Amino acid sequence: MNKITVLQGDYIGPEIMAAGLKVLAAATENENFDYKLTYAPFGGEAIDKVGEPLPQTTINECKKSDAVLLSAIGGPKWDDSPERPEKGLLKIRQALNLYANIRPTCISAAMQKYSPIKNSHDVDFVIVRELTSGIYFGTPRETTLDYALDTMRYTPQEIERVTRVAFKMAQTRHHHVTLVDKSNVLDTSKLWRNVVKQVALDYPDVTVDFCYVDAMSMKLISNPSQFDVILTENLFGDILSDEAAETTGSLGSIPSMSTGDGKVALYEPIHGSAPDIAGKGIANPFSMINSVIMMLKNSFHQDAIAAKIEKAVNAAIENGIVTPDLKGTSTTQAVTDYVINEMRK
Ligand code: NAD
Ligand code: IPM
Ligand code: MN
Repeated sequence: MNKITVLQGDYIGPEIMAAGLKVLAAATENENFDYKLTYAPFGGEAIDKVGEPLPQTTINECKKSDAVLLSAIGGPKWDDSPERPEKGLLKIRQALNLYANIRPTCISAAMQKYSPIKNSHDVDFVIVRELTSGIYFGTPRETTLDYALDTMRYTPQEIERVTRVAFKMAQTRHHHVTLVDKSNVLDTSKLWRNVVKQVALDYPDVTVDFCYVDAMSMKLISNPSQFDVILTENLFGDILSDEAAETTGSLGSIPSMSTGDGKVALYEPIHGSAPDIAGKGIANPFSMINSVIMMLKNSFHQDAIAAKIEKAVNAAIENGIVTPDLKGTSTTQAVTDYVINEMRK
């Protein structure tokens, strides 16, 4: 029995999680794939229930499982609370040692009409974002009356392990890695370049080039089809992946996988809890459904079931059965039901 821990999140979190799980249930009907879901408190929900965003019981549950499905956490309700939901997200990434975050951007022919950019043909790249170090975690970190301080710190080992994930991924794709950094200014970026150049020697079938982060934010709009695997540090990856996501038409469509050396990987949309649209029934469920697809492929090697869902999602996209963020008029429920009906055809 495959064990999946479900962290259903805050605001639109439970709405899109319900959609993703409905699709998972329908896709696995009459298939040789059994799974058991365990719900665990996390984020704002956990702060309300037990006073902290990531209780030890939830960490234990995740460690016992084969995969973790998360929607999105956070929101104004906890903006002034002593504990923030976001802290739970950072902590779970560290607790499960999920140092590589894979965020795909693919604009299929059917999706081009939704893209806000002109050069949206042949866009198919992945961002490999370092997830457990950098300025998110570096010390010292402090706030005094006179100043606030964050520290961007990287060790060669932290860079090397995520770099290997990127090069291995490139070997299964178009054999090219682009490192995004700010090595014209930052010492950490200089270290990134040196380590990546060294690691690249082990992957002679993969070419590598380098791009400053400011220029990359331009190229993602002007010529995104040139990229295959984009490797970058934590904060740059956070920012660039929202930008990349939006070029597909909506941030609300894009999934991610967070992985490390262990067995457990975590799958989540890259967006947040979208408090501005929560409770209206109009959240785009594709990010969560696509996260389920990513989980089925990568953690469970169920490519046929994943392909069945993918085909149904593409049909919804082609036929304009989409939520308002994609300029459609369908509800979360209507999109989900359409995907399920397509799979049953
Ligand atoms: P957000 O990603 O929640 O929303 C940005 C914009 O995108 C909003 O206009 C929102 O309506 C829209 N959007 C996002 N997902 C959508 C979907 N599925 N369907 C339709 N529209 C969608 O970013 P924010 O508003 O800056 O953050 C809200 C909260 O989420 C904050 O507390 C933030 O810290 C948290 N957050 C959590 C995660 C996570 O859990 N992984 C990621 C990012 C932000
Ligand atoms: C994301 C989010 C998180 C991050 C926040 C909520 C801590 O923006 O998953 O992209 O910055 O990593
Ligand atoms: Mn983000």
